[in-house]
Amino acid sequence: MMTSGRGRAGTSAALDVAVVGATGVVGGAMVRILEERAFPVGRLRLYATARSAGKAVPFRGATVTVEETGEGLTDADLVLFAGGDDASRRFAWAVAEAGGVAVDNSSTWRMDPRVPLVVPEVNAGALAGHRGVVANPNCTTMALVMALKPIHDAARIRRVVVASYQSVSGGGLDNMRALLDQTRALLEVPDALERGDAERVRAAAGTAHPVAFNVRPQWKWQPDGDTEEEAKVVAETRKIMDADIAVSVTTMRVPVLVGHTLAVHLDLGRPLEVAAARAALAAFPGVEVVDEPAADRFPTPLQAAGRDPVLVGRVRPDPFDPSALRLVVASDNLRKGAALNAVQIAEHLLAAGRLGPRRPAARR
Ligand SMILES: NC(=O)c1ccc[n+]([C@@H]2O[C@H](COP(=O)([O-])OP(=O)(O)OC[C@H]3O[C@@H](n4cnc5c(N)ncnc54)[C@H](OP(=O)(O)O)[C@@H]3O)[C@@H](O)[C@H]2O)c1
Repeated sequence: MMTSGRGRAGTSAALDVAVVGATGVVGGAMVRILEERAFPVGRLRLYATARSAGKAVPFRGATVTVEETGEGLTDADLVLFAGGDDASRRFAWAVAEAGGVAVDNSSTWRMDPRVPLVVPEVNAGALAGHRGVVANPNCTTMALVMALKPIHDAARIRRVVVASYQSVSGGGLDNMRALLDQTRALLEVPDALERGDAERVRAAAGTAHPVAFNVRPQWKWQPDGDTEEEAKVVAETRKIMDADIAVSVTTMRVPVLVGHTLAVHLDLGRPLEVAAARAALAAFPGVEVVDEPAADRFPTPLQAAGRDPVLVGRVRPDPFDPSALRLVVASDNLRKGAALNAVQIAEHLLAAGRLGPRRPAARR
């Protein structure tokens, strides 16, 4: 289905843009990134739940008042969804049916065959067939495919084994607050932490498995023992990159506020020198190679936080297999992992003439 809105010739006219989940960490980053990148916003509407209606969010030197999410958003030209599964399930296709474009950050539509799952540097071509709903991948998938694509092009990846060290902001604002609260509470009982006194740790943190001073899975267990997060990374990586790549993932939550880190092992179709891998990564848009161990330069979440590039380093051979490589990736899960990628998708659609104002400005 191609509507007039999505099919119209490229235009520089300003768009009617809506952000759902604007009071969350991803939605907030979206608003800032729209402004930073001078995205052609004519009118900006911000949505969240009734709890947040009336809040004021700064944008371009003024403020925009947050509204309760409802049918009204469906007449926007572009809706960036960062309001969770419920909002995306209810409204993403309604936006598309009304002739607009929905870019969705939730996991609701990512594996739907009608919906392209897009990281523009990796598979912008998938946008060509969009029907008005485009999905952003999970933040861990995002960092992973940015590092994999240049290596895959150079030496055909056969198998990927990944361990992730994910920040709490990947679970939203509440998880960031929980880490800070647990940290403060547990600092009151350092002896319980030192001795692994589970009873007192649980009492102080208010949970048996705090994320503060800990490393733990993000459970929603799947029948095979994977977590839901792990299952998402496997399926999404194969949808974006190549369904022939075998993917094995272990995701962990660590006491970091922003920035996901991945330790990646790659089995390749042929040997690839470390220098050639670094060169391919360095030439790839959106990747920054940070790989000078002797100068203490390596990717960390603190270095990635607040920045756009996906950092890749510690590129090493596998001493037992010339057709394998190891590397470390760090990325800001809120920017490239979510908000920036959504805005980049919109920029691509705009440049391709697949997104534009649906109505003359005077009628809006
Ligand atoms: N955090 C990440 O790194 C990341 C990365 C990729 C994708 N995502 C996805 O992005 C979405 C937002 O995540 P987040 O981390 O920003 O979460 P968050 O900080 O908890 O923010 C959630 C936002 O959604 C709003 N919201 C909640 N339920 C809603 C509903 N039924 N209708 C409309 N708005 C609703 C909240 O409004 P109130 O303030 O009124 O509660 C808030 O603005 C999720 O789908 C998440 O899976 C997140």
